[in-house]
Amino acid sequence: MKVIAINGSPKEKGNTFTAIDAVFGELRNEGIECEIIHVGDKAVRGCIGCGQCRKNRDGKCALKDDGVNGWIERMRVADGLLLGSPVYFSAIAGTMKCFLDRAFYVAGSNGGLFRHKVGASVVADRRAGGVAAFDQLNHYVTYAEMFMPGSCYWNVAFGGAAGEALQDEEGMQAMRVLGRNMAWLLRTKESGSLALPEAEKKAYFSYIR
Ligand SMILES: Cc1cc2nc3c(=O)[nH]c(=O)nc-3n(C[C@H](O)[C@H](O)[C@H](O)COP(=O)(O)O)c2cc1C
Repeated sequence: MKVIAINGSPKEKGNTFTAIDAVFGELRNEGIECEIIHVGDKAVRGCIGCGQCRKNRDGKCALKDDGVNGWIERMRVADGLLLGSPVYFSAIAGTMKCFLDRAFYVAGSNGGLFRHKVGASVVADRRAGGVAAFDQLNHYVTYAEMFMPGSCYWNVAFGGAAGEALQDEEGMQAMRVLGRNMAWLLRTKESGSLALPEAEKKAYFSYIR
């Protein structure tokens, strides 16, 4: 059983990492393997809307000159996904958005590659905009039909310089509680005690007549 976290910060060990690591601490306590893909320091261009992923149905983005397809594959085989981003101008960091738009469009256009995984989001900010960025990440989680565990607050950790988030007692508690709830959901799903919900073929309604 494995959870993959996406670190959307350019900093490998910044506050986004601190938040992810607090969630991972609880997951590891439950024997769940954890791995981080560090996307935020890579050169990732945005989706160009070419629609090739929808046409080719090969589970891949047509832009092949970066690591995106490899990361999508690692996410596809994971049991759980944790999206993490620093807050930039009350939103997620640009590189993270470039990656998520491509990964989740590929996933959605190829039969729902992330459907029914356990998924959650965390963000780190210095002062404000955390909830807006948290909501932004959750749009990917919910669109992909993932099961999302909650916490005792919204998953925002406060800190400016790298590691300062450790001093945000309440934020760190939210991460730990998220980790335990995520582990419970992963284990419950693994037990197979309930059949997964039936998937529906996606409806597509255009307002243009
Ligand atoms: C370009 C840029 C924009 C930022 N915008 C915000 C913001 O809107 N709100 C905020 O509270 N912090 C903002 N920050 C601060 C970061 O969110 C904060 O330092 C965060 O902890 C960084 O996480 P990291 O260490 O994982 O990179 C910004 C930082 C940068 C570099």
